[in-house]
Amino acid sequence: MKVLSSILWALTTMLLAGAHSLPYPEHTCVIPASKDGSDDSPAIRKAFDTCGRNGKVVFQKDTTYSIQSVLQLHNLKNVQVDMFGTLEYSTDVRYWILHGSYYYFQNISIAMEFSGENIVIDGHGSGTINGQGQVWYDLALGVGGLYGRPIPFCLRNVKNAVAKNFSILQSGKWNFVMVESQNVLVDNIYLSSTSDDFQANPGNLGNTDGFDTINSDNITIQNSWANVGDDCVSFKPGSTNMHVKNLTCYNSAGIAIGSLGQYEGVRDVVENITAEDVSLYGSRNGAYIKTYVGKRTYWPPQGGGGGNGYVRNVVFKNFHIENITASPVLIQQCTHWAGYNVPACADTPPTGFFSNISWSNFTGYMNEKVGTKAISWTCSPLATCEGFSFKDINVKSANGTDGTYSCTNVVGYNPTCETK
Ligand SMILES: *[C@@H]1O[C@H](CO)[C@@H](O)[C@H](O)[C@H]1NC(C)=O
Ligand SMILES: *[C@@H]1O[C@H](CO)[C@@H](O)[C@H](O)[C@H]1NC(C)=O
Ligand SMILES: *[C@@H]1O[C@H](CO)[C@@H](O)[C@H](O)[C@H]1NC(C)=O
Ligand SMILES: *[C@@H]1O[C@H](CO)[C@@H](O)[C@H](O)[C@H]1NC(C)=O
Ligand SMILES: *[C@@H]1O[C@H](CO)[C@@H](O)[C@H](O)[C@H]1NC(C)=O
Ligand SMILES: *[C@@H]1O[C@H](CO)[C@@H](O)[C@H](O)[C@H]1NC(C)=O
Ligand SMILES: *[C@@H]1O[C@H](CO)[C@@H](O)[C@H](O)[C@H]1NC(C)=O
Ligand SMILES: *[C@@H]1O[C@H](CO)[C@@H](O)[C@H](O)[C@H]1NC(C)=O
Ligand SMILES: *[C@@H]1O[C@H](CO)[C@@H](O)[C@H](O)[C@H]1NC(C)=O
Repeated sequence: MKVLSSILWALTTMLLAGAHSLPYPEHTCVIPASKDGSDDSPAIRKAFDTCGRNGKVVFQKDTTYSIQSVLQLHNLKNVQVDMFGTLEYSTDVRYWILHGSYYYFQNISIAMEFSGENIVIDGHGSGTINGQGQVWYDLALGVGGLYGRPIPFCLRNVKNAVAKNFSILQSGKWNFVMVESQNVLVDNIYLSSTSDDFQANPGNLGNTDGFDTINSDNITIQNSWANVGDDCVSFKPGSTNMHVKNLTCYNSAGIAIGSLGQYEGVRDVVENITAEDVSLYGSRNGAYIKTYVGKRTYWPPQGGGGGNGYVRNVVFKNFHIENITASPVLIQQCTHWAGYNVPACADTPPTGFFSNISWSNFTGYMNEKVGTKAISWTCSPLATCEGFSFKDINVKSANGTDGTYSCTNVVGYNPTCETK
C-alpha cells in the first residue's frame, strides 16, 4: 500500500510538474570537453542519448566545446540542460552548407536543434553559443538568403520549454529560432552579432534576426537584449499568441510581423501578438508588418510572393525609439530581396487581410538624415487594412519637429492619417 501510494505520488508530481519545475532527474550527464580541438559534438549527442529523458545534461563552466558537426537533439522529455559553458561552432562553411538540418521555410539550415517536451535550457548567466559568424557575413555579403547559413540555436517541435539566461554571439544567420513549437518562455537572453565590415557594408549583416517564430503558438520573449543587424524579433508565418515584453534592441530592423505572402498560393496567418516595453536604438524600422509582392517573382528564399493570408489582433505599445532611419509605425507591402527586374509594387500589388492592429505610446526621435515619417501605413489597393489605430505617437524628427503621417488605403483614414 505504501509502495503504491508513493508510486502514485511520484506520478502525480510528474504530471503536475510543468516545464518550470522538473521532477528530480533520474540521471545526470556532465559533458566532457576534448580540449584538443577535436569535435565535441559526439560527446554532446551521447549525453543527450543517456540523460535526455528524465535527466539532466551539464555543459561545464569555464569550458569551451567545439561544435564541428550538426546536433539534432530529439525526443527529449523532462530534461534540464545546464549550459554553464561555451559552445563554439567551427567555421567550415562547406561542412555546414552540406549538413545543416533543413526546414522548408526559406530553406533554412539549422546547426543545433532541440525537440521534445518539458525542456529547460538554463545558461545561468554564463552559457554562451558562439556562431563565429564573420565568415558567413563575409560570404553572404548582400545575399542574406545564401543557402546553408547555420542557425546556432533552434527549438523545433518543442512543447513546454524554458530557455533562459544565456548568450548567442556572432550568429551565422538568424540567432534564436522557434519552429513548430508551443508554450515556450524565453527569458533573459543576450544576443550580439556585429560584423567588422558593418560601417562600410551594412548589407553584410543581413538576415541576422534576433528571435524568429514560425508555425508556433504561445511564446513569451522577455527581459532580453539584442544587437543584431536585422529584425530584432520577427513573427513569421503561423505565429499565434505571442508576447514580447521588456526587450532592448540595438542596430536592428525593429519588431516585425512577416515577411508574409512569400510562397505562392499559401495562406499565412499571424494572430494575437503583443509587443510592449521595447526600446530600439539605431533601428531601421519600429513596429512593422511586411508582406511580399502579389505576383511571384523568382523563388524563395530571396524571391517569391503571390501568397495571401491575414494578420489580426496585434498590439504594439510602450516603445522608446532613438535614431530610427525609417518609420516607427509601419506597414510595408511589396518587400522583395530578389534583386533585379522586380516589377514595381503598383504592378503587382499584394492581397491580404489586416485587422485590429494598434500602435500606442511611442516616444523618441528619428535619424537626422532620413527619418521624417512617424507613421507610414501603405496598404496595397488589393489588401484590406481595417481596425487600425494609433495613439500617443511622439517620435520626433531629430530637430524636434513632429514627424509626418502618411496613410494609403487604410479604412477610416485620409492620406494624412486623419480619421474620416
Ligand atoms: C529551396 O526551396 C525551394 C522551394 O521553396 C526549392 O524549390 C529549392 O529546391 C530549395 N533549394 C534548396 C537549395 O534546397
Ligand atoms: C541568471 O544567472 C545569474 C547567475 O547565476 C543569476 O544571478 C540570475 O538570477 C539569473 N537570472 C535569471 C533571470 O534566471
Ligand atoms: C503558454 O505557455 C506558458 C509557458 O510559457 C504556460 O504556462 C501556459 O499555460 C501556456 N498557455 C496555454 C493556453 O497553453
Ligand atoms: C528588463 O530586462 C533587463 C535585461 O535586458 C533587466 O535587466 C531588467 O531588470 C528588466 N526589467 C524589468 C522591469 O523586468
Ligand atoms: C486569439 O485570441 C482570441 C481571444 O483571446 C482567441 O479567442 C483566439 O482563439 C486566439 N486565436 C488563436 C489562433 O489562438
Ligand atoms: C483586438 O485585439 C485585441 C488584442 O489582441 C483583443 O483584446 C480584442 O479582443 C480584439 N478585438 C476584436 C474586435 O477582435
Ligand atoms: C509609455 O512607454 C514608456 C516606455 O517607453 C513607459 O515608461 C511609460 O510608462 C508608458 N506610458 C504609459 C502611459 O503607459
Ligand atoms: C544616429 O545614427 C547615425 C548613423 O546612422 C550616427 O551617425 C549618429 O551619430 C546617430 N545619432 C545619434 C544622436 O545617436
Ligand atoms: C526638421 O527636420 C525635418 C526632417 O529632416 C525637416 O523636414 C524640417 O524642415 C526641419 N525643420 C526645421 C525647422 O529645421
